[in-house]
Amino acid sequence: MEKKKVFIVYFSPAGSTRHVAGVIEKQFQALGVDGWVLDLGECGVGATEISRRIEESKGNSCLFIGSPVYVSHAVPPVMECIAGLTENTGGFAVPFVTWGGVCSGISLYEMGKELINKGFTLLGAAKILAVHSLMWPLENPLGNGHPDANDDRMVGELVNHVYQKLHSDTPKGIKLTDLAYQTKENHIEMEKVSLEAAKADMPGREIDTRLCNQCQICAQVCPMDAVAFTPYPEFGHDCVFCFNCMKQCPEQAINVDFSEIWQRIKDRAAFFSEHPDSQIFL
Ligand SMILES: Cc1cc2nc3c(=O)[nH]c(=O)nc-3n(C[C@H](O)[C@H](O)[C@H](O)COP(=O)(O)O)c2cc1C
Repeated sequence: MEKKKVFIVYFSPAGSTRHVAGVIEKQFQALGVDGWVLDLGECGVGATEISRRIEESKGNSCLFIGSPVYVSHAVPPVMECIAGLTENTGGFAVPFVTWGGVCSGISLYEMGKELINKGFTLLGAAKILAVHSLMWPLENPLGNGHPDANDDRMVGELVNHVYQKLHSDTPKGIKLTDLAYQTKENHIEMEKVSLEAAKADMPGREIDTRLCNQCQICAQVCPMDAVAFTPYPEFGHDCVFCFNCMKQCPEQAINVDFSEIWQRIKDRAAFFSEHPDSQIFL
């Protein structure tokens, strides 16, 4: 039997999506399948290299692709990566997201739709609850303590199912409609919002020039390569507002007032009241 290959591609400024990618890799290893893992925030390679590997595998591979949910959608680097994949390579795919307990939005639906448009068969999907990455200074952030052992167990179960499907003669895919789990009204409202539009409402960053020693760590930890020095840090248009720059500044020279956005996040979580748990689609 042809050896199966697994490609695990993700973007993860705060580490929860990376954690899920790690669980996927480990579970496949336990099943005797080595995964090729790619962090879109760190590497220079992207869609072309992924497509080359998928083509090389001649239909014997599965692409796991993971994104955090930002403003109800998958993040731009992930959607751009899917958009750049070669069409009709005949492979299988599994989109997965981590979400911060506000709303998982239409991220899985949009990733699934684009993957199907590219000719992939979806063998499963997952939305995994995670600590809200904009609420890290709070004592009790939304999604506190997640992903936890039970979330990891669910991810392992997803991998076991996908493994079995990959080894069956006629692997059964999931339907795109399985991923359209939001109400029709909410789905329409979520189509209208975007990270791009929300950027104007994101809290500003103030650089304390007495503390900033231009060490450039903020630039190094930016997954979008969006920080320039002039001579103090400035944040370019590609910034996705993960705030890694602020979180990891060793001098605490970047100040942000999150009070308004935390209130907005809590209001939106109450408005959508999506059950704060993880779910796998098989
Ligand atoms: C700019 C921004 C927007 C976010 N939007 C949402 C959202 O719409 N719904 C939600 O549940 N969580 C939202 N989150 C929280 C992340 O989806 C969640 O914390 C995710 O696990 C982060 O993934 P990472 O740790 O891999 O970066 C947002 C976080 C950021 C930074």
